[in-house]
Amino acid sequence: DAGTYDKNIEEWPKRGGANGSLRFDAELKHGANAGLVNALKLLQPIKDKYSGVTYADLFQLASATAIEEAGGPKIPMKYGRVDVTGPEQCPEEGRLPDAGPPSPGQHLRDVFYRMGLNDKEIVALSGGHTLGRARPERSGWGKPVTKYTKDGPGTPGGQSWTVQWLKFDNSYFKDIKERTDEDLLVLPTDAVLVEDPSFKEYAEKYAEDQEAFFKDYAEAHAKLSNLGAKFD
Ligand code: HEM
Repeated sequence: DAGTYDKNIEEWPKRGGANGSLRFDAELKHGANAGLVNALKLLQPIKDKYSGVTYADLFQLASATAIEEAGGPKIPMKYGRVDVTGPEQCPEEGRLPDAGPPSPGQHLRDVFYRMGLNDKEIVALSGGHTLGRARPERSGWGKPVTKYTKDGPGTPGGQSWTVQWLKFDNSYFKDIKERTDEDLLVLPTDAVLVEDPSFKEYAEKYAEDQEAFFKDYAEAHAKLSNLGAKFD
């Protein structure tokens, strides 16, 4: 939801961002959102029970809560985001990052600078890949199964970036630097974080210092969660 924000567009909701548009099929079927319909299905019963909460807030609440529950930092969130009302208000496809573009560093900067984020925030947010898995049948990335994903939890399979992929910590930065385990995923946009001189400064710091990662992650996440949002 939030990552579609374009700082060069003033008008809401044309500017994209955290406005609940991701609940519509029109946006769920964008390639970069493959599989997210499953997350929406988990949230829908909560929306049905608490109809006063907007989808825009619910998506952000779910994400921040998941990170905190997985052992990550407390994220300074605020709520009151207004929802768009129809699918015609969804952003066009192509605003989210690709995992395998021709120049990963340039691509990450094109996409995240458009959101108003900087190199430090790009690296910190990429640390979100400490959680979860990629599935070839969804994004086309990752192995069908590895020794770390064969027993789930949840539907088995996919390839994770870290060994303990339900624990939020700084292991992602150690793993993308070492690249010694074939069962762990490193996307081209992950690899560039330890190659590009400016990104590398932060990636190396986060690999050494989990507290620094948590602090920068929490700030960057809070900023991302507010992008483009109209608060009531
Ligand atoms: C930097 C550019 C990024 C690229 C190119 C990218 C790409 C991807 C890809 C290809 C997948 C696999 C999807 C699948 O097969 O189901 C994925 C999953 C994931 N991404 Fe990213 N991502 C990026 C940034 C982020 C950010 C900023 C966050 C959060 C702060 C994030 C959090 C996640 C999580 C948690 C998953 C796992 C989902 C699951 O287990 O189902 N990613 N990403």
